[in-house]
Amino acid sequence: MPCQSNEELNKLVLEAKKHTKYGEVADYIPALKKANRDDLSVAIYHHDGKCYSAGDIQQKITLQSISKVLTLALALMDSGEECVFKKVGYEPTGDPFNSMIKLETSRSAKPLNPMINAGALAVTHLIKGNSVGERLERILTFIRELAGHQAITYCEEVAKSEFDTAYLNRSLCYYMMQDGIIDEDVEELLELYTKQCAIEMDCLDLSRIGLVFALDGMDPVRKKQLIPADVARLCKTFMVTCGMYNASGEFAVRVGIPAKSGVSGGIMGSIRNRYGIGIFGPALDERGNSIGGLKLLEMMSKQYELSIF
Ligand code: DON
Repeated sequence: MPCQSNEELNKLVLEAKKHTKYGEVADYIPALKKANRDDLSVAIYHHDGKCYSAGDIQQKITLQSISKVLTLALALMDSGEECVFKKVGYEPTGDPFNSMIKLETSRSAKPLNPMINAGALAVTHLIKGNSVGERLERILTFIRELAGHQAITYCEEVAKSEFDTAYLNRSLCYYMMQDGIIDEDVEELLELYTKQCAIEMDCLDLSRIGLVFALDGMDPVRKKQLIPADVARLCKTFMVTCGMYNASGEFAVRVGIPAKSGVSGGIMGSIRNRYGIGIFGPALDERGNSIGGLKLLEMMSKQYELSIF
């Protein structure tokens, strides 16, 4: 039985909120510390255009790692599979999202997949354009199209806060530079990457982007193909295998949907030909996923039979 009312969804949100007290908001990006730990909101966009929501869905979230799926799609559209997978691999790591260990211990510093920070930096490196500004504008234009929302932009405060403190991401870049995975100015790449991660939207926008992926790249409203179907499906495969980092296996068992999380507490989900889901819940578990969001998705998956397995 599909979700049929905001009230129904609100009951699930209230239940899932009981878990937010066990999480913490991200603090390694100083500007994210301002989030309210107990917030939890969700929007579910149906393929037929109906949309239900619960919680404070006006609230904006920065995409953080959710943006990695979107830049992967754009890089694949820009340069094709062969070029992208010269820079990143296909395999989950089982390590935290910002870990350096596999870059150091593998024969080459080629990141294992595009959803970990190193892999996402290598993918952002491939986004075409003559300057950081032009490349950012291309990412923004693409995301505005996907969300059907022209006002989307990035949060300068969050971008600067991450840029000023991105010591670990800088190290990942230098490791990759050593092996020729990237060959551009690291500060420029970080400027682009931190702005990409700071792109802001609300749960409704996020659920609509989730639905575009669910429909194999088709805009649900304008019926226009925004992403080639093979690219959209490839991205969803990474959402299943690596979307929730080193919790992806447990998430596949408990929830069973292609999803991508970010340290701001956002989660985007895509259920093929049926729904897009956008969640915001800034309290994170120890692996960097929204604790209320995970609980909520687990309940939604049972109630609405969302698992793809
Ligand atoms: O690069 C970073 O560390 C952040 N901009 C994004 C990390 C992230 O969202 C990981 N998510 N769980």
